[in-house]
Amino acid sequence: MSNYHIKSFEEYFQVYRKSIENPEGFWEEIAEEHFTWRKKWNNVLSWDFTKPEVKWFEGAQLNITENCLDRHLSTRGDKTAILFEPNDPNAPAEHITYKQLHERVCKFANALKSKGIQKGDRVCIYLPMIPELAVSVLACARIGAVHSVVFAGFSATALSTRINDCDAKMVITSDGSYRGTKTIDLKGIVDEALEDCPGVDSVLVAKRINSGIQMKEGRDYWLQSLLDDAYGDCTIEIMNAEDPLFILYTSGSTGMPKGMLHTTAGYMVYSAYTFKNVFDYRENDVYWCTADIGWITGHSYIVYGPLVNGATTVMFEGVPSYPDFGRFWKIVEKHKITQFYTAPTAIRALAKHGTKLVEKHDLSSLKVLGTVGEPINEEAWHWYNENIGKKKSPIVDTWWQTETGGIMITPIPFSTPTKPTYATLPFIGIQPALMDENGNELNDNQVDGRLCIKYPWPSMARTIWGNHQRYKDTYFSAFENMYFTGDGALRDEVGYYRITGRVDDVIIVSGHNLGTAPIEDAINEHQAVAESAIVGFPHDVKGNALYGYVTLKDSGESRDQDNLRKEINQLITDRIGPIAKLDKIQFTNGLPKTRSGKIMRRILRKIAFNEADQLGDISTLLNPEVVDEIITNVI
Ligand code: WTA
Repeated sequence: MSNYHIKSFEEYFQVYRKSIENPEGFWEEIAEEHFTWRKKWNNVLSWDFTKPEVKWFEGAQLNITENCLDRHLSTRGDKTAILFEPNDPNAPAEHITYKQLHERVCKFANALKSKGIQKGDRVCIYLPMIPELAVSVLACARIGAVHSVVFAGFSATALSTRINDCDAKMVITSDGSYRGTKTIDLKGIVDEALEDCPGVDSVLVAKRINSGIQMKEGRDYWLQSLLDDAYGDCTIEIMNAEDPLFILYTSGSTGMPKGMLHTTAGYMVYSAYTFKNVFDYRENDVYWCTADIGWITGHSYIVYGPLVNGATTVMFEGVPSYPDFGRFWKIVEKHKITQFYTAPTAIRALAKHGTKLVEKHDLSSLKVLGTVGEPINEEAWHWYNENIGKKKSPIVDTWWQTETGGIMITPIPFSTPTKPTYATLPFIGIQPALMDENGNELNDNQVDGRLCIKYPWPSMARTIWGNHQRYKDTYFSAFENMYFTGDGALRDEVGYYRITGRVDDVIIVSGHNLGTAPIEDAINEHQAVAESAIVGFPHDVKGNALYGYVTLKDSGESRDQDNLRKEINQLITDRIGPIAKLDKIQFTNGLPKTRSGKIMRRILRKIAFNEADQLGDISTLLNPEVVDEIITNVI
């Protein structure tokens, strides 16, 4: 038997060693014993980081939804697959069994086919956290269509950019969404986006809020009427191991968001294996990840990882603050949640409201707590451990990325001793390295450097959709023969890793990755703005907030500054979404630049951090005089 479920620290070391000494043999055994294949592979792994090209399980054939659904029907047909908790706390939760989910996915898949969707076509999904979101993802996978989920908080411009980049033929959306006491007109946003998307032929619309929306004749279809006509079984499309499964966009340091492409077999094996072990998932557990399926965390650890393991996975439509800040704990009590996985920003927001709302609820069902998305600070870690875990539930601080597809550095609960703010040790099969700026690997403990991965793992993204060169430049060029993560990390005296944060121009705000370039582009569209630069600064709930330095054209200098700030934030909301709004905007007469004209964000960051006394030598700047002015007027 292979080591599918690790149960002790000793076993972790044993299995880890095995996975490093013979990665191919190790992954072959895991793949062989725990998944359903239509045809086995000819070759476990071929790779070349210089191209870069990575292939896992070449020659194998499968369908990931057969692994998520069909193979559970005989043993778990009546078990709840998806437990849907709606926004309205008084509305009933919905328990969707494996049998029902199978039927819903089949019907949806047939509806996609009836609108001409075929293997390889891209389908953009822009839905709130309702069951149709998971169902549509699986329906695409069942027929081999490539799903690209766009988080339903993005604006029309952000949506159309993504639709056009992956050349999606269809968009799946709803008439609107609930968010606490508010509703959001998703269909209106889609209509606006589609004005710029000539490649989209059809839009499927789920009914959620019963708003009176416009349906465009010949393009828009009510989902329900297609489902009513659809047959409840749909044979799987047989996929090759390396066929695309999905594209998911993530922000980069510069330019357009990157469409990370994930493929079928390796992603399935790794997301399932990590899910089982990182959450110590057992058959009757009720697992809840609070992320949105619009992010990678939702793809791997709400949909695929749990369902491949036959788990019960909770989908929550609402927000942590509605009807009050006790909602999460109420849900934990109501559904007897055993694993709870959330982001540090949510923990900080809830901690701010004290422990009264926590104490009202019985949290004794909890066994494992997880965190993801950004470094967790010491205070939040302890609050989580003491008040939610009652010092009994281990916290798994899981480090990973959209690009990695699955969790990379993490404790194994009940095995790895945890340490506040440390993601601890590499997961099975993962070979991290810390590099110095000159490209040398730092082999000792008690060092910090740039975090790289030396060897392929099954769920790594294979390319950036439509731009392989950018994939190579971004991830495989900084250090020879290594995948560069963009993060800094330190390794302590026993070899535990702590992620210190991004070393590039990506800023993580409330767990969402934001690139500076698209935000600056949005600001620069304002007619009064000459130039701008964005940096992050520490924020007690969001982790980081955005600080914008903006220089105005002469014509803008007489304008009311508060109005300008509002207009700038409105532009950002329109172009990207409200998550990218700036907390502080400082108008300046210039931005510090190098002699070659590059904006020195490092200096602006120090100033926003209130560390202007540590600027170092600025005499080599093109315009050192602007620095004093910026420091004097800092907000
Ligand atoms: C950061 C989310 C510290 C990191 C799964 C990474 C973390 C980026 C952690 C990827 C963690 C994620 N501790 N930092 N446990 N988890 N990050 O693509 O900077 O949305 O590069 O994937 O989030 O964010 P993404």
